[in-house]
Amino acid sequence: MGFDHTTVMPGEILFYQNLKPGAVCVDGTLGGAGHARATLEAILPDGLLIGIDQDLDAISHARNVLQPFEQNILLIHDNFSHISTILEQHDIGRVDSIVLDLGFSFNQITQANRGFSFNRDEPLDMRMDTRQNMTADIIVNTLSQETLADLFFPTEKSDFPVESPGPLSGNGRITP
Ligand SMILES: C[S@@+](CC[C@H](N)C(=O)[O-])C[C@H]1O[C@@H](n2cnc3c(N)ncnc32)[C@H](O)[C@@H]1O
Repeated sequence: MGFDHTTVMPGEILFYQNLKPGAVCVDGTLGGAGHARATLEAILPDGLLIGIDQDLDAISHARNVLQPFEQNILLIHDNFSHISTILEQHDIGRVDSIVLDLGFSFNQITQANRGFSFNRDEPLDMRMDTRQNMTADIIVNTLSQETLADLFFPTEKSDFPVESPGPLSGNGRITP
């Protein structure tokens, strides 16, 4: 399967990491693996890149395109919020850089049946990690207005008026 994503600001990502050969780096949002590849090229021959993504498609794609660097990569299908546990499990005591390119990939928007599309009429899924049960459909159509307000505005509890945007479709359910 192809993977459609253009890596943004690769020069800046390299500049600010200030990498040396042998460095140990984390890319917590592998996506199309463009930043990962640029990072790897800067830390060869004995550097290590720990690549994390919660989307299995991104991990499979990275396994393919980063194959020439297989001695220097550790690819993990997980949420980067578990980064300290991941490093601990692999006996990695320190890292030299961490890159987080937050958001979704173009691949996730364009792929059918992921529920990220702005154009297609399909179930409101939006799970980056499809092992999770909670889809966007369940969140916006079953949680109470108060719970949604707490989720979207966790620090503004006392000030924020609890108002639902209301159903976006005629049948009372929020749909794409
Ligand atoms: C903008 S893309 C990254 C593109 C990548 N830097 C490149 O060079 O192609 C964002 C990626 O981060 C992943 N992602 C978003 N939130 C995540 C999280 N909390 N944990 C792990 N991966 C996450 C998404 O699945 C997506 O593949």
